[in-house]
Amino acid sequence: MDLYIDTANLDEIKQAADLGVLDGVTTNPSLIAKEKIDYGKRLGQICEVVKGPVSAEVIAIDFNGMMKEGRERAKIAENIVVKLPSTVEGLRACKALHDEGIPTNMTLCFQPLQALMVAKAGAFLVSPFIGRIDDIAEDGMDLIRKIRQIYDNYGYETKILAASIRHPKHMVECALAGADVATVPFSVIQQMMKHPLTDVGLEKFLADYKKAFGG
Ligand code: G3P
Repeated sequence: MDLYIDTANLDEIKQAADLGVLDGVTTNPSLIAKEKIDYGKRLGQICEVVKGPVSAEVIAIDFNGMMKEGRERAKIAENIVVKLPSTVEGLRACKALHDEGIPTNMTLCFQPLQALMVAKAGAFLVSPFIGRIDDIAEDGMDLIRKIRQIYDNYGYETKILAASIRHPKHMVECALAGADVATVPFSVIQQMMKHPLTDVGLEKFLADYKKAFGG
């Protein structure tokens, strides 16, 4: 399973990359807005730190605008993946960019048919938003399971990138449901190697050793 960090904050990206298990980065307009920095400039900085896929979202919502921005973003670095909304216009842009050899991440996916259509259009990644589905009292993980089954039924190669992950339990469930990738906020990455029994156990090992041998 690949692990991406969902942020545009360079310091968080560097800290996550230092762990040695970071495979990519996703950004979106809300995350860039928090950083108050030019989107293109920050993408260039991110691509210097992380060599895996870096998702760069377009701001345009019409086909021509998405194509123009998508081509521009793709020139920033060879690991840029153009992120497009899962709309009709986005689907058309996905197919056209795919035909030009530019990989895409189809975002804001909330139902299985969007995932089916973008796979047919050659998307590299599809991003179902788990947390936002849970927010409206539905089951985000059910969407991951359905997309997994559809892609397996037909052998689609589009990777399922579980997004809008809010806590470690989401992460465990995504791994069990067979998501190919999870994009995770830094706060969740920080929790992924934590367990109180690990800390207590380590403390006891060291205390026992000290008691026996001093030091
Ligand atoms: O990758 C999508 C993600 O940034 C959305 O997360 O928590 O705003 O729903 P959230």
